[in-house]
Parts: sequence; structure tokens; C-alpha cells
Amino acid sequence: MSAYLSRPDMWQTSWDRQQEAFMPDREERFAAMLRGVAAITRGAPPCLLDLAGGTGTIALRALARFPGAEVTVLDQDPVLLAIASASLRDRGTVVDADLGDPSWRSKLPVEGFDAVLTATALHWLPADRVAALYGEVREVLRSGGIFVNADHMPEESLPSFSERLRAHAREQREIAYASGAATSWGDWWRHAAADEFLRPKVVERQNVYPDAGHTQEWTPPAIWHVDALRSAGFAEAGVLWRGGTDAAVVGVR
Ligand SMILES: C[S@@+](CC[C@H](N)C(=O)[O-])C[C@H]1O[C@@H](n2cnc3c(N)ncnc32)[C@H](O)[C@@H]1O
Repeated sequence: MSAYLSRPDMWQTSWDRQQEAFMPDREERFAAMLRGVAAITRGAPPCLLDLAGGTGTIALRALARFPGAEVTVLDQDPVLLAIASASLRDRGTVVDADLGDPSWRSKLPVEGFDAVLTATALHWLPADRVAALYGEVREVLRSGGIFVNADHMPEESLPSFSERLRAHAREQREIAYASGAATSWGDWWRHAAADEFLRPKVVERQNVYPDAGHTQEWTPPAIWHVDALRSAGFAEAGVLWRGGTDAAVVGVR
């Protein structure tokens, strides 16, 4: 039996360390999102969509915080979805869909979500698609439900300081890689390809991401997202959380 089948938690941990090397405050943004969910559900188990959720990072944290939560993880990466499925088992639904295609909503098991939460993902999509997606997300929320997008959203008014923050983060990452505290993006995928169970999923992934990664790196400031949320019809929109060159914006339906 592969290490993956018996230990999805091992892949979760190594994914987390790999992502935290880019975002040391990654857990802070998740905590801010889940505080937002707690504020609108007031004790009732929420119905959540972890959008472009990868290994189901947000869904798993939501299940830990809100017992009885109904979670759906949507992504198009076969490797990450396999890890999400093994981690969730029967505690949630995993949906394979491309957010580049507006028909992604037809694959959802339910609608009327209390919250749609996404992290470090929508910068993979072009601007016009993100703007349209915001309108589609609004439609799958219940009235009063929230959408939170945490991503790279550097302040336009801090160009040189943002560059210094990024340079510092790069230096810290190199130290973490050199000490073995974190695995680089490339090495993480090489380890996945060496795993007996994940190897076929890695091959499948090449059809989804032929460039072995993603080329899109469009990272407008938070205000762009807030404006786009308002244009998409959200009743309220603003910044929920801010950390260095990243932020989380929230839209309330
Ligand atoms: C850096 S990962 C972040 C995953 C997860 N949200 C987390 O914080 O660990 C970006 C995710 O966005 C997903 N993604 C990018 N473009 C997508 C698309 N068009 N449709 C569905 N998922 C997409 C990728 O497959 C990947 O899982």
C-alpha cells in the first residue's frame, strides 16, 4: 500500500509546509475567513464551498472548527483532489471542475452556500474571468452568505516596499528549503510523481496543466477585487484581512 493511501495527513502536512514557505501567515487568513463564517452562521453548522480548494485545506479546517459542517471542495487538479478525497473520506464532497468555464456551477451538489472561500488560487485566472466568476459565486450563495478570496493583493501605493517584502520572503524561503523545513514547489511535485498511488494522477495532471504549473500571475490590489465584487452585485464588499503583500477580500450577498 502506498504511503498516500495510509497517510493522506502526510501529504496534507507537506503541502501546508510547501505553501507556508510562500505565505508564513497562511493560517491567519484561514482563521480570519472562518471567523467571518462563524459571525454569519452563529452556531449553526455552515454549508461551505472551498473553491479551487486543492487538498481541501479550508474545508478540513472548517470541519475541525464547525462539527457537522457540510463542505464541498472544488478544483481541477487530479493530484490535489485525490489527496482531498482521501482526507475528507465521507465528511465532504469533492468536485472536479474548471473555474475557467462558467458551467462549473452545474457540478455542485448543492447551492445556497453560507460561504464560498478561496485562497491563493484566483490569480491563476485572467482578469475578465475573475470578474465574471465573482458574479457566478454570488449566485451560489444564500442571501447574507459571504465570499472570501485571500490571494496576493499588493498595495499599489507601496511598490518598493512590496518588492522588499517579496525579496525578504524569497530569502526566508531559501533558508527554509536549505534547512529542510519546507519542500519547494518543484520538489513537492517530484515527490508526488514518485508516489505509487499519486503517479498516475501526476500524469493526468499534465493534461490539465501542460506547463507543469501555472503561467498566469495577475495580482491586482485589493481595491480591484472590492470594486469587482461590487460590480458583481454583492451588497457589501471590503477587505477582511491584510498581511504583507496579501489580503483577503469579502463580499456579502
Ligand atoms: C496554490 S493552490 C491553492 C490551493 C488551496 N486553496 C490552498 O490554499 O492550499 C491553487 C489551486 O487553484 C486551483 N486552480 C487554478 N485554476 C483553476 C481552475 N481554472 N479551476 C479549478 N481550480 C483551479 C489549482 O488546481 C490549485 O489547486
